[in-house]
Amino acid sequence: MSRELKIKAAEAAFGFVADGMRLGIGTGSTADEFIRILARHVADGLSIVGVPTSERSAALCRELGVPLTTLEETPELDLTVDGADEVDGDLVLIKGGGGALLREKIVAAASAQMVVIADASKKVDTLGAFPLPIEVNAFGLGATRRAIEKAAAALGLAGAITLRLAGEKPFATDGGHLILDASFGRIPDAKALSSALLEIPGVVQHGLFIGLAGAVVLAGEGGITLLRR
Ligand code: A5P
Repeated sequence: MSRELKIKAAEAAFGFVADGMRLGIGTGSTADEFIRILARHVADGLSIVGVPTSERSAALCRELGVPLTTLEETPELDLTVDGADEVDGDLVLIKGGGGALLREKIVAAASAQMVVIADASKKVDTLGAFPLPIEVNAFGLGATRRAIEKAAAALGLAGAITLRLAGEKPFATDGGHLILDASFGRIPDAKALSSALLEIPGVVQHGLFIGLAGAVVLAGEGGITLLRR
């Protein structure tokens, strides 16, 4: 998606922000545009506090002067604005392409509302063309991968399950975990897969966001489309 479209989606999502709000601040290139817009409004006097969903977003917020808090100080948030890798018609998402899915899900779940900003091409009929990121504990990686394969097979799903790398080394999340990217191709029953994955002890969290997004702002060449649940 062009930067211009990301900015348009972020601007539209800014319409959900009100003075005094406690915000969840997402991660990714689209969320970065939202942070830049937020920073400009803060400089003009908007009063908000934000909980960033990654060290990367925290660093950008600090650099631009967006006031930050934590879920310890502020355990309930009014609104989270975040990107996504895929969105279906029920507003179920695949997230975690940037590796921040665990903090993103914790922050979204602590928010009264989640608004997603995305390129119109991220809207799909069936989730799964984008490989599903699964955050796992480094201990027992081989056994966890095998358990994921078996759980997926029981649901009729198969495909490569690849350890995400950063250069030559395994990619480490902000929480110090690893990510397995599961190329299932199609995920017809996200709820069933979510439950099965969360049964596996080595799985910390996965990138299926079910029942969290209340609205999705899709930016396309034809303009902005707002999906609501
Ligand atoms: C970060 O872990 C992801 O969930 C991002 O929200 C997602 O990858 C979208 O990123 P872009 O806005 O860069 O496409």
